[in-house]
Amino acid sequence: MCPVDPIEFDRAVNNLIVNAYKHNRDAAKVRISVASAKEEIRISVEDDGDPIDSECLEHIFEPFVSQSASRSSSEGSGLGLAIAAKIIEKHGGTLNIEQSATGDTKAFIIMLRPEKVMGFLEKAARQHAFNSNVCK
Ligand SMILES: Nc1ncnc2c1ncn2[C@@H]1O[C@H](COP(=O)(O)OP(=O)(O)OP(=O)(O)O)[C@@H](O)[C@H]1O
Ligand SMILES: [Mg+2]
Repeated sequence: MCPVDPIEFDRAVNNLIVNAYKHNRDAAKVRISVASAKEEIRISVEDDGDPIDSECLEHIFEPFVSQSASRSSSEGSGLGLAIAAKIIEKHGGTLNIEQSATGDTKAFIIMLRPEKVMGFLEKAARQHAFNSNVCK
């Protein structure tokens, strides 16, 4: 078990959120949700932009993979998802993509085991409570 690194974690989640806006049309809707249960924590970043083509989908967590520039509103280095997947893996979790057969929605899903990250989440919650008190 390794301690959660909040900077790395932030980097991983941030890339998913930036991607949802950067690689889709301007009006695309993005939904971020977090669900926690006894056995797992699920963080989902979902958008209703254009579907990712099957060739790209197959290798999307590999470095330097990108859809053709014509379908993507902005080019990037193609490293964000590969790095995010490694970070999540290092914290004992998984990063996957779920895209509906119709291509209407796609979601990047982070799954984590609570026992690996609870310490970090509790610390973040305590820090938040402390900051809230300071602000009052
Ligand atoms: N939410 C999304 N909607 C559509 N295409 C996406 C989405 N997320 C990723 N992609 C596609 O997957 C490719 C890889 O994403 P990745 O985050 O690894 O790299 P990047 O965003 O291009 O560059 P960066 O290294 O700056 O993150 C993108 O170039 C894009 O083609
Ligand atoms: Mg990216």
